[in-house]
Amino acid sequence: TKTLTILGLESSCDDTAAAVVRQAEGARPEVLSSIVFGQTELHSAFGGVVPEIAARAHAEKLDICVRDALAEAGLTLKDMNAVAVTAGPGLIGGVMSGVMCAKGIAASTGLPLIGVNHLAGHALTPRLTNGIAYPYLMLLVSGGHCQYLLVRGPEDFSRLGGTIDDAPGEAFDKTARLLGLPQPGGPSVQAEAEQGDPKRFRFPRPLLDRPDCNLSFSGLKTALMRMRDQIVAEKGGLTRQDRADLCAGFQAAVVDTLAEKTRRAIRLYLAEQPGQPTVAAAGGVAANTAIRAALETVCAEAGAAFTAPPLRLCTDNAAMIAYAGLERFKAGARDGLDLTARPRWPL
Ligand code: KG4
Ligand code: ZN
Repeated sequence: TKTLTILGLESSCDDTAAAVVRQAEGARPEVLSSIVFGQTELHSAFGGVVPEIAARAHAEKLDICVRDALAEAGLTLKDMNAVAVTAGPGLIGGVMSGVMCAKGIAASTGLPLIGVNHLAGHALTPRLTNGIAYPYLMLLVSGGHCQYLLVRGPEDFSRLGGTIDDAPGEAFDKTARLLGLPQPGGPSVQAEAEQGDPKRFRFPRPLLDRPDCNLSFSGLKTALMRMRDQIVAEKGGLTRQDRADLCAGFQAAVVDTLAEKTRRAIRLYLAEQPGQPTVAAAGGVAANTAIRAALETVCAEAGAAFTAPPLRLCTDNAAMIAYAGLERFKAGARDGLDLTARPRWPL
């Protein structure tokens, strides 16, 4: 029987990562190692990811990540069948660092090189972690993306709808910035929201009057700014409770919007793919416990199965890249040393 072992690299945003994933024929894939170096501290003084700083840090950390990922798996490059790397979309300097590192490995070892779309990595993660079969409905919610995808195969995605402006993770990050909470905003806003009253402030639920599954999150930021400024004008500043209530109101709006649009996405999905649907969520925002709980409820009501990867594989990591590379490899895909880094790359 054939066993495939793939080294994966990821460096498209602010995490440098390497991982080893293995799959024996007929068996479930296994994550043998997954190393992630976050860059949050490097960027914290700037209120956002600085591309030049990110690219330099990726270039410095990639070799160490690869060494650690191999060591943790107890393997060497000789044990690999291919090296997979995020070739886009993302911050171009970081993507180039990863692609160059992977090319160096491929050129020096003769291993096949496989370019992976970062979004495909997120979208295939539920197959890695939960073993779900094609087809399924994917809700991809991260700091840069928000879309509903009908996933039929490793390279067969159709988009059913998505955000028309900001991604939800971006909205969480902006909310944190406006309220003086630490980045990344998702976890800190979630923690505040758990202490707050979601009914005190009424945030808009955009696009619910439309029958499609498109979303919009940019209005939430404007609403938040207005509410914050009004409190400051009236009382001279925000109390802890004000902050928690604003976070709770904001998060409730995101939860309601995603829940309702997921109901509609399931309907659109069923029109193309009748039967009992499987719905999967991935991307950093799928780590949010309130969002997960709402999606679980919506799916239960619609008779759909719901899965989401464990939190550490929802946010950026290289195991998802190694696994997407493994699926592409099995499907016969190979990239040459002329593989290019792509800042934009729609699925
Ligand atoms: O998938 P990801 O690691 O990176 C990409 O955007 O590709 O997602 C990062 C985003 C950030 O915006 C972060 O604030 C958000 O995911 N996030 C969360 C939570 N954890 C991370 N958003 C809401 N709730 C969370 N618990
Ligand atoms: Zn991501």
